[in-house]
Amino acid sequence: MGDQLSTAERSSSRNPTALRTSPVLTVRQLSKRYPGKTLLDHVSFELDRQKIYALMGANGAGKTTLLNILTGFVRPDAGVVLLHGQPIGHLQPHERTRTGMSRSFQDLRLITTMTVRDNLLLATGRDPTDAWAKALVAPFFKSGAHLLLSVIEGLLKEFSLSADTVAGNLSYGQQKLLTVACAAANGGDLLLLDEPVASVSAEHVHRITMSLRRLRSQGATIVLIEHNSDFVRSIADQILFLSDGHLQHYTTLDALRADPFARGSYR
Ligand SMILES: Nc1ncnc2c1ncn2[C@@H]1O[C@H](COP(=O)(O)OP(=O)(O)OP(=O)(O)O)[C@@H](O)[C@H]1O
Ligand SMILES: [Mg+2]
Repeated sequence: MGDQLSTAERSSSRNPTALRTSPVLTVRQLSKRYPGKTLLDHVSFELDRQKIYALMGANGAGKTTLLNILTGFVRPDAGVVLLHGQPIGHLQPHERTRTGMSRSFQDLRLITTMTVRDNLLLATGRDPTDAWAKALVAPFFKSGAHLLLSVIEGLLKEFSLSADTVAGNLSYGQQKLLTVACAAANGGDLLLLDEPVASVSAEHVHRITMSLRRLRSQGATIVLIEHNSDFVRSIADQILFLSDGHLQHYTTLDALRADPFARGSYR
């Protein structure tokens, strides 16, 4: 029950107990090499609260790998990742979710045979089995289930999704919306989104843009991998550009384009 209540509470205020002055995420000297390719070469950066960062770079630069390392799906060769000042390198992906970090995948990874509501329900749970049990036996967990369902109702409204539609029957753009909604569903304050608007219609890009801005206004920090420069211009507070293992910070897309470091590999 405790897990459920705090999930719902966090969804409305996005981790108010987090230290507001310290960086949300601190990365120090992160390195990752695959045979024949250095993706991260002693990369260091910090992410501030309530900002949207676009992570850019050419195909194969290592953007998804960086997200995989931050979320615990891939181990770095070296380096430290701190979330709200606490090291998280030893935590499994599902344990990192409990600390307020969530992500979406480049290849969607929805459960296409389940409804929108059930995908969201699973995404809200710190322990999916637990969330299912508590929601499905509502009489025994009434207040927790109510809170959980109100979180889901809020997400359905925010992302204009229909609860009972089977996820596999949604359009591609709606599936993208659902992946972003699922990432937001655990109420965490750090969202890492892998190409949330790739191949999506202008209407759905607009919806995703509005929802991400709203999440930012509620306190979320968002990192989104993106190639679409119009989208980046419309939403990003800062740009991180990854190339040849090095990460550079820019305040605008124009600044990035003016830099010879980025110009060579920018598409
Ligand atoms: N497990 C792995 N073993 C070996 N090489 C890998 C592995 N995972 C990724 N790579 C390689 O690392 C490089 C970076 O891959 P990654 O998916 O992180 O790039 P990306 O910047 O997300 O690219 P894209 O824009 O195409 O999504 C690619 O050359 C990829 O083939
Ligand atoms: Mg990628």
